[in-house]
This record gives sequence, structure tokens and C-alpha cells, in this order.
Amino acid sequence: MLWISLNRSKPVPLIRQVYTDIRAKILRGELSAGDKLPSTRKLSEELRISRNVVLEAYDLLLAEGYLESRRGSGHFVAPGIRLDAPAADAAGSERAWTAIDRDSDDGVIDFRSGVPALDHFPRDVWAKVVQRACREAPLSALGYGRPEGRAELRRILSRYLYRTRGVQCRPEQIVITSGATQALSLIAKVLLSPGCSVLLEDPITLDIQTIFSSAGAVLHPIPVDEQGMMTDCLPSGKFPRFVLVTPSHQFPLGGTLPIQRRIQLIRYARDNDCYIVEDDYDSEFRYDSPPINALQGLAEERVIYVGSFSKILSPALRMGYLVLPPALVERYQEAKWYTDLHTPSLDQLALGLFVEEGHLEKTINRVKKVYKKRRQALCDALYAHFPEQVSTLGSSTGLHIVAAFRGTSFTPELLTSLQTAGVRVYPVEAHAIVKGRHHDKIILGYGNLTEADIAEGVRRMKKVLG
Ligand SMILES: Cc1ncc(COP(=O)(O)O)c(C=O)c1O
Repeated sequence: MLWISLNRSKPVPLIRQVYTDIRAKILRGELSAGDKLPSTRKLSEELRISRNVVLEAYDLLLAEGYLESRRGSGHFVAPGIRLDAPAADAAGSERAWTAIDRDSDDGVIDFRSGVPALDHFPRDVWAKVVQRACREAPLSALGYGRPEGRAELRRILSRYLYRTRGVQCRPEQIVITSGATQALSLIAKVLLSPGCSVLLEDPITLDIQTIFSSAGAVLHPIPVDEQGMMTDCLPSGKFPRFVLVTPSHQFPLGGTLPIQRRIQLIRYARDNDCYIVEDDYDSEFRYDSPPINALQGLAEERVIYVGSFSKILSPALRMGYLVLPPALVERYQEAKWYTDLHTPSLDQLALGLFVEEGHLEKTINRVKKVYKKRRQALCDALYAHFPEQVSTLGSSTGLHIVAAFRGTSFTPELLTSLQTAGVRVYPVEAHAIVKGRHHDKIILGYGNLTEADIAEGVRRMKKVLG
């Protein structure tokens, strides 16, 4: 008897279920070459289904070459089909990709950085602008668009960026991207080739290092202190294609690059004829003073500015942008075209309405108050539980802080013990290019944790760290 399990409540037609089940048995080797299948009449009786269902399933398997039919004697499994299941995905399980979805609620308090307060996403307003964008979109928005994105959104963004970040640009200098990650990948695609040099802050998010090194670039680390990149350490003779900086809020250590260093960096880029890539990923959230203006406003012709809506709205939107020196615009439009043609047009129109009607600034002001409390709860809990041991870095901006624990080394074993105790933290060392300087530091993202979760998370840390 051929054991086939059918589920009549599944929305999958019975023909497909019979076909899939037999095909899987053949591929797994449970049915081997030359094995005879039951007659259509017998199988339909056993399964209590119409004979036509079995006939059609057999026909499909015949058509795809899984079965052979021998006149007068029935259906037989064709030779040479067995396909072993792939070995366990060792490479996949080891990958360092920081954006791996951790949707499962395993009860662990997760201090992952860079996730905004998802419970404060303005769902109703967003739903309204999406609906309006869909209803009011011109017909052209439903066809293929331009690689740089919708003109409406680029106009709105150029005004918004000037007003809030001091970015100087015309709409033509903007290319809309799928988040900052795609913007950085496009930069790699256009500017990098195997063996060329890139200077970047050390530490800097591992994803950025991976994007540039996969393009074949040689990464030259520039150390970072509490004020960001140490521009005195910019080397001569390296001829880099660009220098990558996070000047408003260094990731992960949190410093803000002072004006003297900004000027030194621009001079360096001019003297070495290279670009500066400014990753301005979460600078809108500055708690003790107004946001610092972008570096781009000081050297429009040298700076490639990268922005994102992942932290100020939601990473799920996958919306970001590049502001380019005019000389580079065409090459990026072409690179974007050959990557994914363009970012979804209706989403761009919805975002345009959201920004134009002031909802973005309202959202930022509203969630900033939430983050301020969460940040305070985190600092209070850390200093209450570890008064002698802890010092914090970068607490004036963004959605995370770095905590340094005197005398502690966050080894893989310690991180596992913390996780077993129900709290997940992220070592700075994982983002270091030159290893060995940051073993005592962890990144604690608080954007998407309630004050109660934060307090409980630090309590769990205390149990392990003593
Ligand atoms: C420093 C930095 N730049 C860029 C990004 C990427 O953001 P996006 O979601 O826009 O791709 C991140 C994400 O956490 C980040 O930490």
C-alpha cells in the first residue's frame, strides 16, 4: 500500500497533494527506480477519492519525468531521480548578519540596537497615507518608475533635510533606496573595486565592513574615541576611495564629531581627492540639545550622505536615500536601475505625504520622549546594580548606549550565560576591526524595550555578572 496523507481542510487541491506526496517519496528514495505504483483504481479506493484525481496526479508526474508508463502494466518510478536533502546549513548558522529576525518571543530580554519603539509606530496615520497614496497616485506611478525615485518625494526630502539637518541639495541629487543598507551597497558597487582602499571608523557596524570588504576593498581602521573618528590618525599614502563616518552619532561608541575634526576630515578628503560617506542613521534622536547639523552641509561636493527611515519610523518600511555630489548622480541612478529598477513607488508616495503633512516630525517629537525615559531607566538600572563597575558611553543620542564594565570580558561563554539567564546583549568587540580593545563593552539598545523590561534585563545581568 502507498501511504499518502491527505488533508481535506487544506486549501491545496487533492491532485496537488497526491502529486506532492508521491514526488517527495521518489526524491527521498522511499520509492526507487522501477518500483510499481498502485493502479489508479486501487489508489483512489484506498484514499477514498475520485479516480480522476489520481489519474491527473499520475499524469503530472509522468509529464515531469518522475514516472514511466508501460503499456498494459501500469506506472513505474523512473530511474535517476533520488535527491539527498542538503546538509545542515553550517555556513548559514554561523553568519554574523546582525539583522537576523528574532521574531520568536523566547522570553529573553533582547537589548539589540537599532530597533525603534515598534509599539509606537503610527499605524493609523500610516494606514491613511498609504490608502491616499494608492487612491491618488497618477497612473504613471503604477508603471515602471525612474531609478532615483519619485520626484514628489525627492522634493519633499530636500526641503526636510535642509530644515532639519542642514543638508544642502537639490532634489536631483537624491536617490531613494531600500534603506541605508542598499545605499551603502550602491556606494560599494559604484566606487569600489578589488584592492582599493577604504578608511572607516573602528569599531563600526559589522554589516558595513562586510558590504565594503565583499566588494574587494581593503579596510583601513581609524580609531574612535568619545568624540568619534580620531581624525589625527588619518593616514597619508593610502589613496582611499572614501572615508566612512557616522559623525552625528558614532556607531557603536556614540560620540559626536566636533567641528574641528569635521574640518580636518574635509581637508583630508580634498587633499586626497576622495569622498566622505556620511552615515546619518539615527541622529534625529538627540536628547540634551538640538540635533547636530550634517557634515554634508559643509562640503556638498565631497560628501555622500546616507539617510534612513528605519530608526525614525520602522525598519520594515525599507526606505532610505542617498544625497550625492552632482558629479556622481548619473552613476548611482544607473547602479540603482541594475539593482532593482527602483524602490516601490506607492510606498514612496505614502512616505512623501507622511513627511509633507508634518507627521514625521510629530512622530519624532512624540517618540523622543519615550526614548528619553527608556534611556534614563537603563542608566538608572545600570548605576544602581553596578555602581563601582560600570561607565556609559554615547547616552546623549540615538537608540542605544555602550556600557563598559571594569574588569569584565564579554567572552562568548559569558554572553551565552547571560542569554541562558534571559538577557541578550551585544559585544562591541564584534564590530571591531582591530580586535582586543573592547572586550569590556557591550551595546545596549533600548529603543524597543519598555522601562519594566529594561529594569528586569539589567537585574538578570546582575545575577550573572555579580
Ligand atoms: C550605523 C548603521 N548604518 C546603517 C544601518 C542600516 O539601516 P537600514 O535599516 O536603513 O538599512 C544600521 C542599522 O542598524 C546602522 O546601525
